[in-house]
Amino acid sequence: MTPTPDIPSASETMAASVGRTLREEPQRWLSPKWFYDDLGSVLFDAITRLPEYYPTARERAILVARSGEIAAASGADTVVELGSGTSEKTRLLLDAFAAAGHLRRFCPLDVSAGILDQAATAIAAERPAVEVVPVVGDFLHDLDRIPTGGRRLVVFLGGTIGNLTPDEQGRFLDRVAATLEPGDGLLLGTDLVKDVDRLLAAYDDPVGVTAAFNRNVLAVLNRELGADAALRRWRHQARWDPDRERIEMHLVSDGAQVLRVPACDLEVPFADGESIQTEISAKFRLEGLAPLLAKAGFGAAQTWTDPDGDFALTLATRD
Ligand code: SAH
Ligand code: TRP
Repeated sequence: MTPTPDIPSASETMAASVGRTLREEPQRWLSPKWFYDDLGSVLFDAITRLPEYYPTARERAILVARSGEIAAASGADTVVELGSGTSEKTRLLLDAFAAAGHLRRFCPLDVSAGILDQAATAIAAERPAVEVVPVVGDFLHDLDRIPTGGRRLVVFLGGTIGNLTPDEQGRFLDRVAATLEPGDGLLLGTDLVKDVDRLLAAYDDPVGVTAAFNRNVLAVLNRELGADAALRRWRHQARWDPDRERIEMHLVSDGAQVLRVPACDLEVPFADGESIQTEISAKFRLEGLAPLLAKAGFGAAQTWTDPDGDFALTLATRD
């Protein structure tokens, strides 16, 4: 049995979410949202600079080649970025929209307040003519807080949609469609199925940055919920699920131990080798992208890949 992760609801606190998902058997799990405290955001930024982590460089290459086309096709005056992080690649798009003469607003939305504030402050300073409206929020629940009016393009990069289960992907896209007006756009980055060794290397680098990122979620539980996780006794592991075509990240217990989380009134015994699943990262096939988007009411999809066909960027229009 594998878990069917359910996203924390809008009102569910961290203690309630962690209490619920760590109680689930046989596979205990954590929502990926808890990775991104200030240190987690810095570690993720380091991941994007690893030679093994190809998605960032590939997506950037597509944006370098296609941002002009995307700006012309979309015609948006407002760019909304979900899970924006550093918004580093997004600057390429903003340049193209600004050059096309119709960029009025940029709204980055992220759960991680520190990195969001840094990115928004830098972009506002670089572009005095653009109104920058950062929103600290959850892209699964807080879409009603993004600004309305004008022609909007929602941008969701990094393959982050792959961190949702297929059900959640559908619900998420439905909510984005419900938030947008007909004619508004969605630009979606998806990582594609490829050689398993390259996929695994991207999620288990030899320097150990990814392992540090994964383990840091336990440091977050220790700090925020009074947990007693001994970080050195949890091993990072990336697995490929060939049936669901997804990477799974686990923290594997080194020896038998008990994890106590006082804020959740929880004591979980782990056997040696038993794991907590901390992330899924689904990989996509080109032929599945237009149907996935069409189901949520996005048509006229146009997809570009990098020259090696590693990563895809799809521009679709809300019907
Ligand atoms: N878009 C960037 C960052 C991707 S990492 C890139 O392409 O490189 C995923 C980002 O989504 C992180 O910045 C994280 O803080 C944010 N995030 C994760 N879960 C989220 C959620 N539920 N709501 C909003 N942001 C979330
Ligand atoms: N959105 C990223 C991805 O799926 C998140 C990520 C990259 C990640 N490396 C990770 C999550 C390692 C957990 C552990 O590619």
